[in-house]
Amino acid sequence: MSINVVRYENRSDIGLVVISNPPVNAISPEVTEGLRKALDTFDADSEAKALVVHCEGRTFVAGGDIGSFEAPDFDTRPFSSVLSRLDASPRPVVATLHGTVLGGGLELAMACHFRLALPATRLGMPEVKLGLLPGSQGTQRLPRLAGVPLALDLILTGRLIAAQDALSAGIIDDVADGDPLALGFAAAERIAETKVTVRRTSTMKIAVNAATTRALSEAAASVAKKPAYPALSAIVRSVDAAVNLPFHEGEEVEARAFEQLRLSDTSRALRHLFFAERAAARVPGLAPAGRPREVCSVGIVGAGTMGGGIAMNFANVGIPVVLVETTDDALNRGLATVRKNYEASAAKGKLSTEQVEKRLSLLSGRLDYASLSNCDLVIEAVFENLQIKKDVCARLGRVCKEGAVIATNTSTLDVDVLAEATARPADVVGMHFFSPANVMRLLEVVRGAKTAPDVLSTAMQVSRRIGKTPVVSGVCYGFIGNRMLEPYMRETEFLLLEGALPEQIDAAIESLGMAMGPCRMSDLSGVDVGAKVVNGQAEAGELPPDPHYRPVVRKLFELGRHGQKTQTGYYRYEGRIPKPDPTVATICVDLGRQHGITRRGDITDQEIIQRLMYTLINEGIQILDEGVSYRPGDVDVVWTAGYGFPDYRGGPLYMADQIGLAEIQKTLEHYGRVRGDQFGYWTPSRLLNELVATGQRLGAWTKE
Ligand code: 3HC
Ligand code: NAI
Repeated sequence: MSINVVRYENRSDIGLVVISNPPVNAISPEVTEGLRKALDTFDADSEAKALVVHCEGRTFVAGGDIGSFEAPDFDTRPFSSVLSRLDASPRPVVATLHGTVLGGGLELAMACHFRLALPATRLGMPEVKLGLLPGSQGTQRLPRLAGVPLALDLILTGRLIAAQDALSAGIIDDVADGDPLALGFAAAERIAETKVTVRRTSTMKIAVNAATTRALSEAAASVAKKPAYPALSAIVRSVDAAVNLPFHEGEEVEARAFEQLRLSDTSRALRHLFFAERAAARVPGLAPAGRPREVCSVGIVGAGTMGGGIAMNFANVGIPVVLVETTDDALNRGLATVRKNYEASAAKGKLSTEQVEKRLSLLSGRLDYASLSNCDLVIEAVFENLQIKKDVCARLGRVCKEGAVIATNTSTLDVDVLAEATARPADVVGMHFFSPANVMRLLEVVRGAKTAPDVLSTAMQVSRRIGKTPVVSGVCYGFIGNRMLEPYMRETEFLLLEGALPEQIDAAIESLGMAMGPCRMSDLSGVDVGAKVVNGQAEAGELPPDPHYRPVVRKLFELGRHGQKTQTGYYRYEGRIPKPDPTVATICVDLGRQHGITRRGDITDQEIIQRLMYTLINEGIQILDEGVSYRPGDVDVVWTAGYGFPDYRGGPLYMADQIGLAEIQKTLEHYGRVRGDQFGYWTPSRLLNELVATGQRLGAWTKE
């Protein structure tokens, strides 16, 4: 098997090792074994004056094979020992780098004696994003090459750097344009000819000075604040070992930490999300009719909160955007907000003035729909009102050119109804951005009943192009995320009426690692936004037949307590700081009395977590059963990328497997008994019952 992924040859007395393990040349056990054998051959090849390490395809090695980390007997040491052999080679070893040189790839490169990269190459140590640390000498070699401050920065953040910056930092030795193999051979010839002593990273000394000591102690203090991510402190300890211990002892410290982290719940959850995000980008059964349409220009209808933010995404990647509004005022307001946002980024040093002007020059504003007639993709982001949206969609159906994709950013309306309004439903797809649309990673791509395969794949491709994490949802009220939010908010309100305070509910939920509890979240997104949704449902006759359903949000709205924007909501605000507000307790006592709900003093954090999270999980499983979502991992991506669910818990459905589905079923039934289940709030979904009955886990479940 190793013959396929690694080969050795001698070309004009230079040894060549080629790794060929598509798509990203990840280091699998087979690659390690192939490298070991290739080195045996090189050792025996006395004609070879030097060795070139090269990768075929789109990139040099982009890391260890993350899938192989699941194997119980996984071991980093065979790969590390290959690296030690390269490092110790008496003949020069040259690595030719291109693409993304990441994790184990950078470790491999650093074990070679000379590294040259193509100009577009990017390098990094992203293991931390998987809850790991570099496991094959990376924490020992990088500080030796780049110094402790930069090594800590790169390993702790996982950020990538450009080849030129890596050159300036001493991580690589040359940047050159051309054929990487030819460049590698030329360098190997040159180095072999000069017969200079090769530079081995393992023998380099780290300067111990004030900067080193300060970087280590600052890093230690900063990671101590993030105990949910144990990899961080392990990284600091390993870099400390690089500074204070001989190379091979430091390597042992690192290897032990890697093994512990690999087996940790945190890393398992983060690895689950790595693959879930990539799986979410695949739409089952789409090829070959689903080749995406080309998108070179975008139109956006409505330059309000969402329209402006959506436009920024496209301008950021160089795609021209025309924004259409109803009045000059609305248009100018929208464009001014976009300018303000860009200027705020420039003030923080994230963008240069030229970049701001370049992006703004890609945006234009119009009051006529005819200016949309040349756009490849048009996204409507007008008021959330069915009649207005139907009118807008009908106009778009007439004005958009043949082959254009028409997308709606509706949060709650029926995408199929809007699609029919265009009279060309095959061209229509939902693109549900999250607020702030220029910041939030998640994008729910809503597949209508008649959405053409190529329209769906266009939406997926364009989402990735603008740096979003797309997840496909079927059509239903609230799609994946907001639909699951519904029981979560419902139970929040019941708990408030029963005697829990906003700060108690938020603290319990935040103790799980959620970025914000439900009350703080409502205040941030706008109590008015939430109340309008509930009121809209009431008008449409779509509320559950429960007379006690969600009175709190409607009351706060009625009182003008719209959240942070009015400085009062579930809390009162000092700037952005929420302060408990006794008025809210009084409002809840009054509402509780009106609704005949008995107040209790014994609501525990555990009850809060179970009632909010288990109903949310139950809804997520129901969504899978209905086919609204393709996979449990898609639901996890929605919640971690869009709703502040802690990534180190892997998402709500991953967490459900950790809690145990039988436990969740039993707890739902318990609340059904003690609280009454006349509205079906506590009924376990059909699929949950089936999974429990058959002893299955969600992680192994597929629709087929
Ligand atoms: N292991 C296994 N598979 C990997 C992989 C890896 N390290 N990196 C990428 N892949 C797979 C993806 O799952 C995907 O597979 P799919 O097509 O079947 O879904 C395919 O490669 C392409 O990946 P992307 O869709 O992400 O392609 P992009 O071009 O957008 O990005 C990338 C390429 C920048 C390499 C990105 O995939 C990435 O960041 N990969 C992770 C890199 C990483 O974390 N490396 C460190 C691994 S841990 C390690 O090295 C430990 C060592 O210290 C011992
Ligand atoms: P908004 O009220 O801030 O902006 C709507 C804009 O549309 C206004 O500027 C208005 O002048 C313009 N408009 C109305 N009718 C128009 C027409 N016929 N032609 C051109 N422009 C028209 O609303 P917001 O918050 O931006 O919401 C827009 C859409 O995005 C809604 O469908 C909403 O449900 C959805 N959404 C909103 C989120 C949020 O948090 N605000 C999150 C996700 C989706």
